Amino acid sequence: MTRLSPLATEVMSKNIVEFKGVTKTYNVGSRDAFTAISDVTFEIEDLPGKGEFITVLGPSGCGKSTVLRMIAGLDPQHPPTSGSVLVSGTPVMGPGPDRGMVFQDYTSFDNRTVLDNVAFGLECRGIDRATRHEKAREWIQRVGLNVQSDAGKFPHELSGGMRQRVAIARTLILHPRIILMDEPFGALDPHTRQQMQDLLIQLWNDVEATVFFVTHSIEEAVYLGDRVFIFSRGPGRLQHQIPIPRSTVPTHEIHRDPDYQRRVLEISEIMEQLESQKP
Ligand SMILES: Nc1ncnc2c1ncn2[C@@H]1O[C@H](COP(=O)(O)OP(=O)(O)O)[C@@H](O)[C@H]1O
Ligand SMILES: [Mg+2]
Repeated sequence: MTRLSPLATEVMSKNIVEFKGVTKTYNVGSRDAFTAISDVTFEIEDLPGKGEFITVLGPSGCGKSTVLRMIAGLDPQHPPTSGSVLVSGTPVMGPGPDRGMVFQDYTSFDNRTVLDNVAFGLECRGIDRATRHEKAREWIQRVGLNVQSDAGKFPHELSGGMRQRVAIARTLILHPRIILMDEPFGALDPHTRQQMQDLLIQLWNDVEATVFFVTHSIEEAVYLGDRVFIFSRGPGRLQHQIPIPRSTVPTHEIHRDPDYQRRVLEISEIMEQLESQKP
């Protein structure tokens, strides 16, 4: 029988992300002081070779972006006013290569081609041109763009869906352990959105990362999530964590699945209650 040393056990049981009593007040000490989230506590276990997909719901202004940006280590959300934000057991000190972020608004560089946008992170890491372009072409293909016809285009020549494919490729090419997505498909039409959801699930199965995905769509949260976080308003608190068992129903039939429908309804009722509370 192999015995693990106490140290090894500790390392193995580490959480990939943990919030311990996290409160964020913006503009502390001024008349504009505003507490966005209060006493938020949760743990996301590190599941090697299989990250968890967390979807995040809550009324507008309840602090969803604040939570994501704290994990990313971005100012002024970082650092917390009190409590601690831990990634892999260590307090977040700032941005790092273990975390990648995809925003709703298309954040590619206008003056760079698709190829050079996707290769950007590798360029920052000092990877030589031939190697980073080869990797970038591989990722352009993986996110469903056409290497021949799309790699040389500039962002203004792309549709919204294509731009988000570029944003996803730009992030995943760096192999982050944690992917932070802030309403990434919020601006897309329903059909494109569904295509992007399927693409994301397919990529996520390969990249084995933990995902935090903020959305306004309850359907999207239930469809994508292993666990749905629901925040309440003013200041935001984590009210519910609802586990969603992986569905075996094929994608195009999910909307007719009774379990899926029941969960959407259950969460809709929770959300209606939260939305109706006074800010
Ligand atoms: N940099 C900031 N300075 C002051 N207040 C902020 C800042 N960022 C966000 N807030 C406020 O904190 C609250 C939560 O914001 P946010 O995290 O963006 O909410 P959500 O993403 O859930 O809509 C909002 O009331 C917002 O106005
Ligand atoms: Mg937001």
